[in-house]
Amino acid sequence: MATAQKERDLLIEVRDLKTYFFLDEGTVRAIDGVDFDIKRGQTLGVVGESGCGKSVTGQSILRIVPSPGRIVEGSILFHRYSGGNGSSEAKTVIDLTKLDAMGDEIRSIRGAEIALIFQEPMTSFSPVHTIGNQIMEAILLHQEVTEEEAREIAVDMLRHCGLPRAEDVINRYPWELSGGMRQRSMIAMALSCQPSLLIADEPTTALDVTTEAQILTLMRDLQAEMGMAIMYITHNLGVIAEMAEEVIVMYLGKVVERASIDDVFHDPKHPYTRALLRSIPKIGQKSTAKLETIKGMVPDPYNIPSGCTFHTRCPSYMPGVCNVQEPKMVDVGNGHLVSCLLYDQGE
Ligand SMILES: Nc1ncnc2c1ncn2[C@@H]1O[C@H](COP(=O)(O)OP(=O)(O)OP(=O)(O)O)[C@@H](O)[C@H]1O
Ligand SMILES: [Mg+2]
Repeated sequence: MATAQKERDLLIEVRDLKTYFFLDEGTVRAIDGVDFDIKRGQTLGVVGESGCGKSVTGQSILRIVPSPGRIVEGSILFHRYSGGNGSSEAKTVIDLTKLDAMGDEIRSIRGAEIALIFQEPMTSFSPVHTIGNQIMEAILLHQEVTEEEAREIAVDMLRHCGLPRAEDVINRYPWELSGGMRQRSMIAMALSCQPSLLIADEPTTALDVTTEAQILTLMRDLQAEMGMAIMYITHNLGVIAEMAEEVIVMYLGKVVERASIDDVFHDPKHPYTRALLRSIPKIGQKSTAKLETIKGMVPDPYNIPSGCTFHTRCPSYMPGVCNVQEPKMVDVGNGHLVSCLLYDQGE
């Protein structure tokens, strides 16, 4: 297993990404000009309310955006390093948006160099094959090993993911396992080819709090050991605080704030981020204390508001400004980026 990497080279560079769904009712601009980077070994948190484009961002990187959706603009540069831990690593850069979504090149990356885990493993595991067969299939697809070796790797990975009696689990069907065991098995499958990026899309949402905590610890331990980067998608800011180093906050297909975990929690700039933070329970807060909800509803995706798209719900709304001008991303210091007209005016 690869040792943890200390370097922080670029792994993924997303630039002005736009992914739209073309429906009879109209066009849904699910991702509408998104920029962010993921560095090697880093955990980037992606947060925002339901429908803001978190999953479609992950799907765009993997090139699995379902029809009638497609990437219409922008680039996703994937920096591929070869040579393992050698000092003279060669690097190639490919734009994932330029690849044929059905072609060999993205297939060799998907599941091997970039892996995905998501909320309900029942839908990623087939019910008619054993856990072992499915993990082995993934290994055999991407690695030059015999079936016997693939089986060993699979058992090893399952054990590594905290499944006792891995030799037994490997012969089980997904529905024979508990939710927590299935999620551990899915992580084992995702990590069996040692990806450089793991996209985790709400992987613990369906689990109880105790199992969730165990899975988060497992992912952090495996990351420390294997050195992969994680793009952690969730609507739960508490989970982000535990997992991520940097966070992007999304609203209606746009990134509204991008900052280190400390800045997001201790010095949030965007009114939307502030509202999200007010809507999570604080440690020590009485369970009877009322949590604030963000006022209003997420607008209909066919009728995105003009100007700043958050202006219809924003407590700092400036009429004649926010409904007219489109905010640009500005650096408010130390790489803390925010897209809000409160910071984008004057000087
Ligand atoms: N297959 C699809 N067909 C049509 N529209 C879609 C499809 N998938 C996503 N969308 C639309 O794209 C937008 C972004 O959806 P996405 O699934 O990325 O949201 P999300 O942030 O992951 O939300 P959640 O927290 O509920 O998972 C939404 O407006 C959604 O309705
Ligand atoms: Mg989602």
